[in-house]
Amino acid sequence: NSSNSIPNSSNKLKVIHFDNYEIQPWYKSPYPTEFNSNSIMYICPHCLLYFNSSFTLNRHSIKCSSKRHPNGREIYRDNNEKVSIFEIDGRKNVIFCQNLCLLAKLFLNSKTLYYDVEPFIFYVLYEFSNDENFKFVGYFSKEKLNSTGYNLSCIMTLPIYQRRGFGNFLIDFSYLLSKREFKLGTPEKPLSHLGLLSYRNYWKISIIKEIYKFFYENSDTLIKNVDNKNNLKKLYLSIDDLSNLTGMAHDDVIVGLEQLNSLITVNKDDDINKYALIFNYSLVKEIYTSFMKRDTIKLNKDYLVWKPII
Ligand code: ACO
Ligand code: ZN
Repeated sequence: NSSNSIPNSSNKLKVIHFDNYEIQPWYKSPYPTEFNSNSIMYICPHCLLYFNSSFTLNRHSIKCSSKRHPNGREIYRDNNEKVSIFEIDGRKNVIFCQNLCLLAKLFLNSKTLYYDVEPFIFYVLYEFSNDENFKFVGYFSKEKLNSTGYNLSCIMTLPIYQRRGFGNFLIDFSYLLSKREFKLGTPEKPLSHLGLLSYRNYWKISIIKEIYKFFYENSDTLIKNVDNKNNLKKLYLSIDDLSNLTGMAHDDVIVGLEQLNSLITVNKDDDINKYALIFNYSLVKEIYTSFMKRDTIKLNKDYLVWKPII
């Protein structure tokens, strides 16, 4: 909390008021000066507009059109978990996307975009109640022209919703879009500390899910040649196969395998390193069941109604 981190005295913002919560910002965000000079800022949980006082926020809430109809197109809905994802074009909903980026910057250290939102599509996760009152939970952005292979630019879950599996869910969603595009994806670098923790965990789980199918559900997706000699299941599986199954770029598959100590170097003949993949039955089962057992939201690909923009 040193004064060094606050370059000018006009930045006095201590908390943001968001849907009956008070959240402390982690970093400074370039909201207009008059908002940074108050200690509290009030943010509409539906459209993310910001206000100086609870009075102006309440007056806005009465007529906020995003409460029942968020911007963009609803492309994913889970009526049991009561969550939806909306696809929002940065060119068509400039103000909303700018407000979203300003909010995200409060929790992101890196330099992110705030005003130049047009080259991006935003995938925004909402929780809704029975009366269809949509509240913002988190989001990720994606470049429209992603010649770089990035399937995600920036991701954020509001601190009040963190560690409940929404980050994992959004990351899973970003790879589901890549699979529908018949592409392999990877997040834009550099990752923040929390971004790296979340991705490492995701890459590991994602590989585990595929391996589990092979081990325990007798799925034939990975079986090219099964050798039951000595009760050993032999699996002919390459990093390429895992990439195609998960939508993950090769490097990310490798990091996932490393998390599991599954990538081993075998004796090298010639000058070429040879690698092998090994999986421990009980470890795979343990990680898989503890992940599935957790009462966190899981992605259901059947709920996605979406075609890639060509
Ligand atoms: N400490 C340790 N591990 C963590 C933490 C943490 N604070 N947060 C996430 N993880 C790891 C854990 O393994 C966790 O699984 P677990 O809860 O079963 O242990 C896993 O990541 C997934 O956690 P989720 O609950 O699914 O993720 P969450 O909803 O908390 O969102 C996110 C993760 C989006 C990174 C969030 O922390 C956030 O918004 N941070 C601020 C913004 C940011 O740094 N974004 C990433 C920037 S990089 C980029 O955008 C490409
Ligand atoms: Zn609003």
